[in-house]
Amino acid sequence: MLIFILPDAIAVSRKAADLAADLVRRKPSAVLGLAAGATPLAMYGELTRRHRDGEIDLSNVTAFGLDEYLTLGADHPASCAHTLRRHFIEPLGLPPARFHLFDGLFQGDMAAYCTEYEARIAQAGGLDLQILGLGVNGHIGFNEPGCSLQGRTHPVCLRRTTLATNLRTVFAPLGEQVPTTAVSMGVATILAARRVLMLATGGSKADAVAWALEGPLTAMVPASALQLHPDAIWLLDEAAAGRLALKADYMAESATLAAVLAL
Ligand code: F6R
Repeated sequence: MLIFILPDAIAVSRKAADLAADLVRRKPSAVLGLAAGATPLAMYGELTRRHRDGEIDLSNVTAFGLDEYLTLGADHPASCAHTLRRHFIEPLGLPPARFHLFDGLFQGDMAAYCTEYEARIAQAGGLDLQILGLGVNGHIGFNEPGCSLQGRTHPVCLRRTTLATNLRTVFAPLGEQVPTTAVSMGVATILAARRVLMLATGGSKADAVAWALEGPLTAMVPASALQLHPDAIWLLDEAAAGRLALKADYMAESATLAAVLAL
């Protein structure tokens, strides 16, 4: 676990883009797992700009969406697919076949659909880098408090905390109700990624960050499962790091280890 505490959200996005770009330079055909939500959008913007300016070449990456609201199609402005298309896939101008996104309108054998999604990830060689945001209740993907820490891709019911947050931030401005169900890579799918990059910014995430990093490993805080990951990197701004007891230690440690590991 490596925890970087950076001055602000812009610095978090730049550092995240640096780490992703380093990976793609080492492995041009890297397989990425992509969270939607607001937090990683500036990172995606930075990566697509660097691609456009010829600083990195993302032409050979493959990517998988992390989750999706059920009942929302890819054209719905609040769907994860729409967010990823608009902020990452379309600006890169790459063939859609390289991008695997959940179909929020899928109807049929959901268990088989989820198994097939896992098989596609395996066929691609597994995830090299999973990019995550953090729910205020500690969720990762749509793995909500009380989920299985060994779960694979599965349908989920969203908790009331998530429904309330997403209503306020996303759906109320559109004049719509929040979907109550979703499909998400499971915690075990996320833990199987070779590296996990968690981005958390803003004071609203400070409690969840402290629970996940300094509290016990518990299904009540799904992000605490990242304690089990051998290569999880947390990128926090000052506000999100505000409740960490060992904040000063993490700052010293990340400065030392980043130099040793060339991160
Ligand atoms: C979205 C996702 C969610 C978000 C989380 C934080 O694909 O998987 O776990 O990452 O809810 O959302 P923001 O970044 O909007 O605060």
